[in-house]
Amino acid sequence: MVRHVSARIVVLASGSGSLLQSLIDAADAGTLDAQIVAVGSDTAGVVAIDRAAAAGIATFVEDPTAYPDRDEWNRAITARVLELDPDWIVSAGFMRILGPTFVDSFPRQIINTHPALLPAFPGAHAVRDALRYGVTVTGCTVHLVDHGVDTGPILAQVAVDVLPDDTEESLHERIKERERPLLVATLAQLIGEHA
Ligand code: GAR
Repeated sequence: MVRHVSARIVVLASGSGSLLQSLIDAADAGTLDAQIVAVGSDTAGVVAIDRAAAAGIATFVEDPTAYPDRDEWNRAITARVLELDPDWIVSAGFMRILGPTFVDSFPRQIINTHPALLPAFPGAHAVRDALRYGVTVTGCTVHLVDHGVDTGPILAQVAVDVLPDDTEESLHERIKERERPLLVATLAQLIGEHA
């Protein structure tokens, strides 16, 4: 008998982990044919790590401030993730740039989700930047990670209207409502294509 093996996923997250939670829920519900083998963060004590622990998922923290320089940190987090032998790595609100050591170790296996319609508004403050620019439509993008900052091949996007009274928080929350299902669906499609 051929045994079916779910895709092995490592999720990297720095914050509240609501995107992570959508992946956990989809894997539990069977809509995502995946096993989240670990959740990693750059910051101890974040809610994302609590969510993973509550779901019985292994966690790790690699804090860049614990290393002499960015290259050492990159080598450490690369080694950590290589040990986990993932099929896919999902950067879901991970607020650090993954360096060449990491990216080259997982070619076309890392996906990132970003709260803007790339190539518009890359970087760490995409929602604020879109609001300040005065766009009337923004959204979210799921893409493969390459050596640039939010520059890899785009896999999926959804547009979100900016409302006249939006704050950074209200707009980001509406983007995330669309971003969570987009991330799950895009990852499910990738897993299906590579099964
Ligand atoms: C998401 O909107 C994600 O796109 C963004 O952080 C949020 C995480 O939400 N990532 C970036 O801005 C990366 N440049 P969460 O902590 O609720 O999952």
